[in-house]
Amino acid sequence: MRLDVVTIFPEYLEPLNVSLVGKARARGQLDVRVHDLRAHTHDRHHTVDDTPYGGGPGMVMKPEPWGEALDAVLASGEGRPVMVVPTPSGRPFTQELAVELAREPWLVFTPARYEGIDRRVIEEYGARLDVRELSVGDYVLAGGEAPVLVMVEAIARLLPGVLGNADSHRDDSFAPGAMAELLEGPVYTKPPEWRGRTVPEVLSSGHHGRVARWRRDEALRRTSAHRPDLITGRGPEGFDRHDRAT
Ligand code: ADE
Repeated sequence: MRLDVVTIFPEYLEPLNVSLVGKARARGQLDVRVHDLRAHTHDRHHTVDDTPYGGGPGMVMKPEPWGEALDAVLASGEGRPVMVVPTPSGRPFTQELAVELAREPWLVFTPARYEGIDRRVIEEYGARLDVRELSVGDYVLAGGEAPVLVMVEAIARLLPGVLGNADSHRDDSFAPGAMAELLEGPVYTKPPEWRGRTVPEVLSSGHHGRVARWRRDEALRRTSAHRPDLITGRGPEGFDRHDRAT
């Protein structure tokens, strides 16, 4: 998979050299290219923003540097990428979207600063590309770079061969399957006793059925506590006959 990121803070994307994404790059599973938007400015101050039409606080990112930068990115590859525009006013980025985007051969991210990018840029590339305006949560960050890190990590770990153990995503919170849309419950490892605290007995019972039941009960309990909306939003098919009211 190829990923391009156009930003005024290329150094903000340095974490893409680390850990899971960094290893996927080193193995050649991910081709990540970070571009400096300011390389596409032509004034002495490398200006990327200007005051908003209609007035109001803050600044808006000018269309010309984005147009030039995105044209250069598009011209450097074959076919059409999906363009991902991080914005707090986008649709929520979900696990389902991560799965969908992980199937794409090429993604271009356009993290903005200030009050966002001149709308005409989204329209211009929306006419040629599949453009997704996506939010990583109901809070406002100072820019789209941290959301890019979040989305790239969620997508990269789904690529074939990137996670050591392909089963590791099976029980993820939000993964499809028996635990679909339930939050994962607690996990334990050795030693069996730590500071007088023991591991739930069922987990050492060797009884797969009982372990699975326990995990589902814990997931239901945690989901009702942390995300009751995920429980009330489930139809009857979201429960099995052994699920108890939590
Ligand atoms: N830019 C600023 N806040 C954001 C958010 N919550 N999601 C995506 N991009 C953003």
